[in-house]
Amino acid sequence: MKIVQIGTGGWGKNHIRILSQLGVLTAVCDTDSQRSKEYGEKYSVNHYESLDDLLISEEFDGALVITPTSTHIEIAIKLLEAKKHVFVEKPMTYKSEDGQKLVRLAEKNKVILTCGYIERFNPVVSLVKNYVKEKKFGELIMLEFHRENRMPLHIKDVGIIYDTAVHDIDTANWLFDDTPYVVFARAGKIKHEHEDFASVMLGYKNDRIAIISSNWITPKKVRTFSAVCTDAVITSDFISQQVKIEKKEETEIPRNEKQEPLLLEIQNFLGVIEGKNELVVKSHEAVNVTRIAEAALLSSQKGIPIYLDLK
Ligand SMILES: NC(=O)c1ccc[n+]([C@@H]2O[C@H](COP(=O)([O-])OP(=O)(O)OC[C@H]3O[C@@H](n4cnc5c(N)ncnc54)[C@H](O)[C@@H]3O)[C@@H](O)[C@H]2O)c1
Repeated sequence: MKIVQIGTGGWGKNHIRILSQLGVLTAVCDTDSQRSKEYGEKYSVNHYESLDDLLISEEFDGALVITPTSTHIEIAIKLLEAKKHVFVEKPMTYKSEDGQKLVRLAEKNKVILTCGYIERFNPVVSLVKNYVKEKKFGELIMLEFHRENRMPLHIKDVGIIYDTAVHDIDTANWLFDDTPYVVFARAGKIKHEHEDFASVMLGYKNDRIAIISSNWITPKKVRTFSAVCTDAVITSDFISQQVKIEKKEETEIPRNEKQEPLLLEIQNFLGVIEGKNELVVKSHEAVNVTRIAEAALLSSQKGIPIYLDLK
């Protein structure tokens, strides 16, 4: 198996490390020549400044696209047209119509397309997903997410809804096994060019609700969620990977092995290419997340709820 990586920035360097550990890293590409050289030399693989040059010179099965969101569409089209399997970081594209184009192109060329909704591979999300599926603590009624961080200064092309809240939008869809029919959001900006704080409310059928609160204002890192079920409240920390289950009479702390979600995510992509396992993040689900993010932005601009009809 041969995998190339496009984009070797702050986040992409983690994927390169894992691809190299797994013995599949074949080449790297970054328009920043210093970066592509640094990582090419560090991991002893060919390095390119241009995707076109890489496509001419390298033979490979799949690619990871870890570049700024606004560049995903152009890069992914080239790779899919070359009939390569593609993993694109979140959000898959800036516009949902572009995401739809990628889904169609991948289907036409019979290749895999997936997106980096990494929390699906976080052991705490997997644990809660199993509890919900088995109805271990009754029905899941409400989800509440908190994601706070210092402003990531290098992110210029999108605001907090597209960059950060999308993780929780995807996790809410995954845990409810549904998509919302209504989105209401309020957002604003203090320091960033785009919105840097937002609260998004997603309404699912049977009055199920997800509340997503994200900001780049607080100087600390918080990534938590709670799942209100009919028989217990499950509180989870995405970072420490700790889970607490509060029931009427007792509190339970389940044992959960800490794992690196990025490793599990990349292994899932490689396993699908090899025909060994099923794809976890389907491309149409990633397009739905972008649609919901678009609706959240529109809702916050207009001050009205936006109704959706997602498949
Ligand atoms: N899943 C997660 O938790 C997570 C976390 C951080 C970032 N991300 C996503 O990863 C992506 C990259 O984020 P980042 O923080 O690494 O950004 P970054 O700016 O640190 O790195 C992006 C890299 O891509 C390169 N690049 C830009 N255009 C290119 C092109 N056309 N061809 C090749 N290289 C190009 C840049 O030179 C840079 O080195 C974004 O989509 C972001 O949303 C996901």
